[in-house]
Amino acid sequence: MSEVISLEIDAPDDWHVHLRDDEMLEAVAPYTANAFRHALIMPNLVPPITSTALAAAYRNRILTAAGPDARTDFTPMMALYLNDDLDTADLLAGAADGIVFGAKFYPAGATTNSAAGGTSLLDYRATLEAMAGAGIPLLVHAESTDPDIDIFDREAVFIDQQMFPVIEQIPELRVTVEHISTRAGLEIVQDHPQVGGSITPHHLTCDRSDLLANGMRPDLYCKPVINSRDERIAIAAAATSGDPSFFYGTDSAPHPLGKKEAAKVAAGIFNAPYAIEVVAELFHEMGALDELEAFVSHHGVDHYGLERATTKVRLTRHVVDELEPAESMRTAGGTEVRIFGADAARRWTWEPVP
Ligand code: NCD
Ligand code: ZN
Repeated sequence: MSEVISLEIDAPDDWHVHLRDDEMLEAVAPYTANAFRHALIMPNLVPPITSTALAAAYRNRILTAAGPDARTDFTPMMALYLNDDLDTADLLAGAADGIVFGAKFYPAGATTNSAAGGTSLLDYRATLEAMAGAGIPLLVHAESTDPDIDIFDREAVFIDQQMFPVIEQIPELRVTVEHISTRAGLEIVQDHPQVGGSITPHHLTCDRSDLLANGMRPDLYCKPVINSRDERIAIAAAATSGDPSFFYGTDSAPHPLGKKEAAKVAAGIFNAPYAIEVVAELFHEMGALDELEAFVSHHGVDHYGLERATTKVRLTRHVVDELEPAESMRTAGGTEVRIFGADAARRWTWEPVP
């Protein structure tokens, strides 16, 4: 017989989130700001956030959009988009001033709003060396864009071709493999202490059969594409293992419904509203709730050299599916966005501990 489960954890962090801008920012920012202490904000706006000035202005727009129920300690952590427009001196100055947290590399064409990305990581060698010297982390969308490589192998190929050379040649650089989707992503993290890995709710709980087997599901389409069942099981095992190199990053990435249900489906899953519920339900199913706090609240701040939270959140799993969570939301202008994870949110609620 099931019973109510209640646990308190240190306030969680989201180490990878897309908040967009303007009306979409206003609609989605409160979900992240209400739930998470740190949120590492992805810079793939159009045009991208490539300078400290752009990051500072975007950070102000985020704080305004965060809304009245935002956590008082909600902190947007800003990343600059690493491409030819980025000026290393500006990055270093922005980091020294506490405005810029890291730099994100997107291979051009790999994902949503990556057209301004780079070709090869080592083209930015001088910048990467300066980042290593200043302790600025490199965040990587690890996916080959080679059309001859099968879509499900592109993470492994990118890691072989681009990440190993960087970590071997610049071993002092702190690196994060973002949104790990395969065992190749897990292994480079496990084998190198300076390399961390963020893991999303959808790569933890879905596999490509969910995406493709019972009517193709554009709501589950993201980059890197959700991979095989074996990869999913390995990712869930890593997240629940207590290995401090793995931490939560939702990759919450809202798109208007019209772009998700289209001839060419936009990549990205909006999961911020139920990001805590989904991971709590998975850890519960795996008998690993005692590892939840480490994964969502400790490993990321430890990896990035920040202080752990001093406030807590209480999570409750109810006995029956008594809640009716919304499966989509609308922006002020009426644009609909589908929400991932409503099933888990039928059982779980959470609130800050006063
Ligand atoms: C992200 C987006 O929509 O900005 N999409 C996605 O599929 N994950 C970009 C990204 O992180 O790849
Ligand atoms: Zn992302």
